[in-house]
Amino acid sequence: MPQLFDPLTIKSITIKNRIGVSPMCQYSSENGHATDWHLVHLGTRASGGAGMVMMEATAVSPEGRISPQDNGIYLDSHIPKLKQITDFIKSQGSIPALQIAHAGRKASRGVPWISEKHVPASEGGWQIVGPSAVAFGDGYEVPHELNSNEISNIASDFRLAAKRTLAAGFQILEIHAAHGYLLHSFLSPISNHRTDSYGGSFENRIRFLLETVEAVKMEWPSNLPLFVRLSCTDWDERGWTLTDSIFLAIELKKLGVDLIDCSSGAIAPNIKIPVKKHFQVPLAEEIKKKANIATAAVGLITEPKAANNVIHKEQADMVLLARELLRNPYWPIQEAQYLNKVTPGVIPNQYRRGF
Ligand SMILES: Cc1cc2nc3c(=O)[nH]c(=O)nc-3n(C[C@H](O)[C@H](O)[C@H](O)COP(=O)(O)O)c2cc1C
Repeated sequence: MPQLFDPLTIKSITIKNRIGVSPMCQYSSENGHATDWHLVHLGTRASGGAGMVMMEATAVSPEGRISPQDNGIYLDSHIPKLKQITDFIKSQGSIPALQIAHAGRKASRGVPWISEKHVPASEGGWQIVGPSAVAFGDGYEVPHELNSNEISNIASDFRLAAKRTLAAGFQILEIHAAHGYLLHSFLSPISNHRTDSYGGSFENRIRFLLETVEAVKMEWPSNLPLFVRLSCTDWDERGWTLTDSIFLAIELKKLGVDLIDCSSGAIAPNIKIPVKKHFQVPLAEEIKKKANIATAAVGLITEPKAANNVIHKEQADMVLLARELLRNPYWPIQEAQYLNKVTPGVIPNQYRRGF
């Protein structure tokens, strides 16, 4: 049975342990360009011992950013700083991963620590887009309903983003299809009210995501891992369900997707989510077992022994940590100590006297 500190090989890539940094927006980019903040933030988590460091939701077009300060991969000029970041992550024995995204009807918002309100065009914002002209909730703008040409242009944006992701040195690419952003908003009947070939039936609602995966595969090498993050349930019977996710995961696997990163929720405000420790682990377990595909579990995983159990009981193949690694980037090397898994190279030489 695998353990937290066992390596995981997916295609040509071996991740040294089962711990990944979950993607986290930093709102610290300049016109989509990563900054020294990202180098230090992601670099610290790599030297902290995480086997995989996934960079935040990175927009495939300017309109795909959540905020004007979001990271982007829609210009070639975005590549050099990202390359510096991936080089450093690799130097620490960690695998750099990038989540590529389009924020859809939840785009053009302010930075959380200032104001999450809509940013109007006069202040650097833009027209938001979605599957249907339905706002996310109160205080949100009504999105422009995308036509089929616009949908295929966005799939092309994902393709070009994949090309730049590779040029920037990332070794894992994740397509963000969760949290109410554009791709998730096509999956869920709560946000997708279309009557064309992108709406209505399950097959129609998953079409855009499948086309996006196909587009990405035109540039992303078949020997490098491809992940998809899903909101595996909307936690509302009118919405996307775990059963839908299982059927979708079967289709994604057929297309060559290697791992489903199992998150949940955020398609609409005011839906009650049963948040507690490990609450999303059963989603990862069900998809792993029923769709026979690797999964990552995420959400309130903070204790090393419990994290080890997720891997050991084969509920998921990886655990991703977000807020715990904001509090303590050295969680992986500290926990390696507690679990007696310190092998040569786990602690950076420069830090050995501290451990
Ligand atoms: C500051 C912050 C930024 C986040 N940004 C993203 C993101 O860019 N993409 C994403 O899929 N999830 C994002 N999330 C969600 C996390 O990846 C993770 O799924 C969630 O925080 C639950 O894990 P945790 O309990 O370990 O924090 C973000 C979370 C935080 C706290």
